Amino acid sequence: MKNRILYTTTVMFIAVVILQVSCATPKYVTEKSGAQLWGESCVRCHNIASPATFSDVQWDVAVKHMEFRAQLTKEEAEKIVEFLKSAN
Ligand code: HEC
Repeated sequence: MKNRILYTTTVMFIAVVILQVSCATPKYVTEKSGAQLWGESCVRCHNIASPATFSDVQWDVAVKHMEFRAQLTKEEAEKIVEFLKSAN
């Protein structure tokens, strides 16, 4: 009986750890700043406009469109928008 409880507890603990690790945002995303992601992603297809080119609202729209084109994750797109707005 005691063994069974220990076994169940251990399995549950491992399951929780695996779930947490697999659902976490990948490290390569969390470590990069918005400026870094902007410099790497947005030059792939065209010249990059300076952050001052557009207003905050315009950047929201532009990056929403480019999030799809550039295959960015939501986290990456949010960081880029944050950077573009902060440099305005
Ligand atoms: C896969 C290629 C690709 C990538 C990567 C890309 N873009 Fe674009 N971008 C385009 C194309 C094509 C257009 C022109 C057509 C359009 O507006 O949809 C464009 C247009 C734009 C425009 C012009 C809007 C306007 O009204 O003049 C802005 C601003 C822009 N991109 C910003 C960005 C930013 C910021 C990133 C990085 C998050 C980015 N792009 C990444 C392909 C890309």
